[in-house]
Amino acid sequence: MRYGYFDEEKKEYVITRPDTPAPWVNYLGSPEYGAIVSNNAGGYSFAKSGANGRILRYIFNQFDQPGRYIYLRDNDTKDYWSASWQPVGKDLSEYKSECHHGTAYTKMMADYSEIHSEVRYYVPLGQSYEVWNLKVTNCSDRKREISVTGYAEFTNNSNYEQDQVNLQYSQYITRTVFCGDRVRQMIHANLDGLKDGEEVDNKNVFNRFFGLAGEKVSSWCGDREKFLGRYHGYNNPAGVEAGVLCNEGNYNENSCGALSAVITLEPGESREMAFLAGMKEDNEAAEIIAHYADCEKTCAVELEELISYWHGQLAHFQIRTPSPEFDTMINTWNAYNCFMTFIWSRAASFTYCGLRNGYGYRDTVQDIQGVIHLAPQMALDKIRFMLSAQVDNGGGLPLVKFTHNPGHEDTPDDASYVQETGHPAYRADDALWLFPTVYKYISETGNFAFIDEVIPFANKDEGTVYEHLKRAIDFSMNHLGRHGMPAGLYADWNDCLRLGKDGESTFVALQFYYAMTILKEFAKYKKDEKYIKYLEEKQEQLGKLIQELCWNEDRFIRGFTERGEVIGKRTDPEANMWLNPQSWAVISGLATERQADLALQMVYERLNTEYGAILMDPPYHANAFDGALAVIYNAGTKENAGIFSQSQGWLILAEALCGHGERAFNYFLENAPAAQNDRAEIRQLEPYCYGQFTEGKASPNFGRSHVHWLTGTASTVMVGCVEGILGMRPDFYGLRIAPSIPKEWEKFEISKDFRGCHLHITVKNPGHVEAGCKKLYVNGEELPGNYIPQEKLTGETEIEFYM
Ligand code: NOJ
Repeated sequence: MRYGYFDEEKKEYVITRPDTPAPWVNYLGSPEYGAIVSNNAGGYSFAKSGANGRILRYIFNQFDQPGRYIYLRDNDTKDYWSASWQPVGKDLSEYKSECHHGTAYTKMMADYSEIHSEVRYYVPLGQSYEVWNLKVTNCSDRKREISVTGYAEFTNNSNYEQDQVNLQYSQYITRTVFCGDRVRQMIHANLDGLKDGEEVDNKNVFNRFFGLAGEKVSSWCGDREKFLGRYHGYNNPAGVEAGVLCNEGNYNENSCGALSAVITLEPGESREMAFLAGMKEDNEAAEIIAHYADCEKTCAVELEELISYWHGQLAHFQIRTPSPEFDTMINTWNAYNCFMTFIWSRAASFTYCGLRNGYGYRDTVQDIQGVIHLAPQMALDKIRFMLSAQVDNGGGLPLVKFTHNPGHEDTPDDASYVQETGHPAYRADDALWLFPTVYKYISETGNFAFIDEVIPFANKDEGTVYEHLKRAIDFSMNHLGRHGMPAGLYADWNDCLRLGKDGESTFVALQFYYAMTILKEFAKYKKDEKYIKYLEEKQEQLGKLIQELCWNEDRFIRGFTERGEVIGKRTDPEANMWLNPQSWAVISGLATERQADLALQMVYERLNTEYGAILMDPPYHANAFDGALAVIYNAGTKENAGIFSQSQGWLILAEALCGHGERAFNYFLENAPAAQNDRAEIRQLEPYCYGQFTEGKASPNFGRSHVHWLTGTASTVMVGCVEGILGMRPDFYGLRIAPSIPKEWEKFEISKDFRGCHLHITVKNPGHVEAGCKKLYVNGEELPGNYIPQEKLTGETEIEFYM
């Protein structure tokens, strides 16, 4: 069943049925002011932190309420509805609507009772407040009087947890007043007169506002209970029903901002207005509202700015292939998903409530990879930041606070860090993600100066980027398990795998092996012969160990516990086949061709499903080892044999590296949101963004997906597709082109910005092969092999590639 379609030209997803199987949402704004809105206008906003900067209220995992509601009431008939289908929820045979989620804006159109409404929600570029720009048109042939009411429910304080339970004390710190064109909410206003030196727990005085521009306010309300009325809900607020609000604020209990305007429309006439909300001092709020006096013009300009900013970001890499699903994901939605994940980490969505007030080390270092080909400067800033969260012993801080203070941080060796973050120890893989990320950045940009840039460590000391990477190697060398492979420490990529301090993870060992290959490139660039030799020796030893200990006939095992148990061997009754060690054996370059073929074949036979490959099989149930935390999940769920979407990205890459274009693309399609647009009732999540996992075949809800938007899947699948399937493989000195595609593709094109040049690449596949290069022309000149040295690139470079 489908609920909408992709508008590729406008880069919008258009929802044509509002009764979607889950709230389908969009991100508006920036870390300064974040806003999330669903197709039924549910959602919330926050300043800087989803955990501690909450402004508009939202109750998680319930009924997608409350939200940014606009009610319309015909004052003749007294009938009322909302500009989004919910919360009033009129009969869908009479209420026609569309919701367009675009790049950082959402537009909702509704037709009911011969009134057309269009509301555009957005956060203006670089600003920290939100706009609900409404246009109402009378489509009937009679004069109409319509009451328009905007409703914003404020939180009672900024802390998410306290707001979720509506903690009793927070009911007595909030009040609202009316200031002509706005409701002003004040929190802790009583402290305004507090003298310096007087001690109270929380002295922060907050001002929030909800204002109206473009129309005169006819009535208002600042008290949630008075607006809704006892025994009413958001679907039938007493204030809307009555057609006039009570003109009272609140003093204690729950605040809100509700503003009504009465408009009279001649047949065919339209009126435009803007509701505005944010956390601002009152004088700033007044200025903001005044800025929208001519809201029609101002909003049009601001929306145009937003669109051109985001479309500009996406324009750096665009493709045209025979697959519309692939194109829409790579050109727009996966790319936009990468940006949102890059910006918001795992902080705030409709699943993540904003509790994690920082960046997971591995998460963010991985997320960066998804935007390197689109916005390398943005990537660079975040790489610097993450390097500055590397401890001087080379390990990464498992959680990097949003307020991270390089050079002065506590580390997992300090009790204070553990207490504050809840992370009791280092994780074995964190710093190892730096290698592919830094390498990809330098290869994309040719910014070699970065290798010598000095960056502080998290706790003390500083070093060049090269030194940072060397210390990451030292960290793993100094934390080896009993066989000499990197120790498991506090889990590897898999949060649910506690192999123990001296246990060993094959995945981390493969990452470490790969890290050494990458660092050799840096060492060669630095002409650091001694270090090259060191890495060669260590890598050879590690490679031998992995081969001897981890290869098990037709698969790589998952690792060893500190008690010496082997995890993931063929004969285990449960979890005897794991996905990640197979894909990573290929990505790391360790697997021989035979091993790669065998292991990937086993993945295909044992783990593949119509929604992607499951993480391991069979699920843990009665034979989980101590430390297999995944056993707590229902079989087929999350790390317990769910289809972990991030892992599809590595599998796509691994298959593509082997030249298996058919399979690589098949894995992409199986798990691609866009490819499931017609089966939305099964997947349930938005068909335009990735989720963390899909329930596996062991679940009765096979195919249902969860944890939308903020997931490592976005960047990992992007890399799998761009480097793997499309074959864009830059290195320090140029660009290798090595597509791995379905045989039936005869041709595809890529438009790519690269090192200050613009490349227009046409790949032709007359022989219908999956991989390989027959000829390569750059600006008409034939080059040997599939490699374009940097010096061959010109401002506009025409590239023809024959497979
Ligand atoms: C989600 C976590 O954010 C990520 O760090 C982890 O790698 C995956 N779960 C897999 O367990």
